[in-house]
Amino acid sequence: MAGRPRTGAQPHSSRGPADTARSPHSDPAPPHPAVRQNEHMTDPQLAVIILAAGQGTRMKSARPKILHEIAGIPLIGHVLSTANALEPAHILAVVRHERDAVIEAISGRRPDVIIVDQDDIPGTGRAVEVALDALPAGFDGDVVIVSGDVPLLDVGTLAGLLAAHRAESASATLLSAILDDATGYGRVVRDASGRLDRIVEQKDASANELEITEINSGTYVFSVGALREQLTLVGTDNAQNEKYITDVVGLLRGAGSTIGAVAVTEAWRVAGVNDRVQLAEAGIRMNRLIVAGHQRAGVTIQDPATTWIDSDVTIAPDVEILPGTQLKGATRIETGARIGPDTTLVDCEIGENATVVRTDGTLAVIGAGASVGPFAYLRPNTILGANGKIGTFVETKNSTIGDGSKVPHLSYIGDTTVGVESNVGAGTITANYDGVDKHETVVGSHVRTGSHNVFVAPVRIGDGAYTGAGTVVRKDVPAGALGLNVAPQRNSEGWVEAHRAGTAAAKAAAAANEPSEA
Ligand code: UD1
Ligand code: MG
Repeated sequence: MAGRPRTGAQPHSSRGPADTARSPHSDPAPPHPAVRQNEHMTDPQLAVIILAAGQGTRMKSARPKILHEIAGIPLIGHVLSTANALEPAHILAVVRHERDAVIEAISGRRPDVIIVDQDDIPGTGRAVEVALDALPAGFDGDVVIVSGDVPLLDVGTLAGLLAAHRAESASATLLSAILDDATGYGRVVRDASGRLDRIVEQKDASANELEITEINSGTYVFSVGALREQLTLVGTDNAQNEKYITDVVGLLRGAGSTIGAVAVTEAWRVAGVNDRVQLAEAGIRMNRLIVAGHQRAGVTIQDPATTWIDSDVTIAPDVEILPGTQLKGATRIETGARIGPDTTLVDCEIGENATVVRTDGTLAVIGAGASVGPFAYLRPNTILGANGKIGTFVETKNSTIGDGSKVPHLSYIGDTTVGVESNVGAGTITANYDGVDKHETVVGSHVRTGSHNVFVAPVRIGDGAYTGAGTVVRKDVPAGALGLNVAPQRNSEGWVEAHRAGTAAAKAAAAANEPSEA
């Protein structure tokens, strides 16, 4: 089939690593100057620790918080992409709650991440402490700490934080933000001269401290030596009986070390996801970034608010996307295609200049110039050739419909192969299931089947064959034959007037049958 999209006959369900070039974590914003340009160079003096051991109680979910998804990727996947884009020599993830599921999500995306188990001692400080023990011996560079529940943090912000830390030769630099409502966050306490003094948690804060609107984002850079030294001094004497990483900041200040805070200008970048309201807010933000990225790359998106695009979706320039469209998974849309309105595509490939209207599709491959919908249901392994058509109220599954072939109306086509330039009549059903096994239907090229056929599989219709309207095709139709099995029609004259006397139908019939006066 000429013109079939790039990956050919096998629709793919495998998702690549989360850090595709289209991810809002690395694109379309130009790389920050501090991001290393050489693709394969890692920074030997840099390690990133991702905190991922917490339970996420406020989600009220059986699923660990960081495995909840936005833009088709778990929260932890977004954080991993950002961490990876910073190109550190080491990435460590601290796990505990639902560890196996969390490890699967992490290692499935980044097998090189060092997994560290947190022990019974609770708190972010303890999590960092166990991670430091897992660092390769002799590492004496900088440690960036990020939370697994802060998915919108981008690599530019992290690189800026790291650059500020190194420019000041600081022992610790934290990322802060000014929020209208700081409830729930640790507050950044500054002294009379405005210098960073310490961080106080919401639950430990005095009434005055609760008035502070500068919050700790939970993202930091520490020099590893200073961090190690102070962590051993951190206790659990606080409202939550936890070992807080935030206490290290105050301890370093007390020890006379240089510590700094860099405030983000876009506070939403550091928003943590702690409940499902925040999950939805983060999802909306992320979607807005993804949609804007595609728009800037030449995609027309009429209504960003009702268009949802997952991180791993690829869209060529001059695609047009109409309102109410969701593009999910590894979906790929080629140039000139028009998608929507009201269309959901999961792991689909849509060829150049194809149109897909009011359609629900999963793992389907649609050829160049082809047309789908309105109201089509494409189930896995549907392959439509170039300039083909799957029309209105048509369901397809595990079927290949060749170049220029059409299934225009009201049909179910399953386990079927159709050749090129054939037309399957309106209202055709492939009876592919005998109650035990599925069977195949093969329709040749340049075939014309009549309306309201049933193809009782297994069955073959040869090249150039025709079938009559209403045919139940139980036997193969040879090439060039006309297949017919309609019983002769019998009309019982006068039946309505005899059996339905007095009805409107009988009166209409009588009027119609009256000899005309002329
Ligand atoms: C933390 C900060 C707070 C900051 C906020 C920003 C501390 C003590 N507080 O609070 O100052 O404003 O983040 O979002 O650090 N985790 C572990 N092990 C643990 C506990 C937590 O790995 O024992 C992980 C969690 O999975 C999560 C991250 O650390 O990814 C933050 O934990 P969370 O409970 O959300 O801390 P916050 O109360 O939000
Ligand atoms: Mg949190």
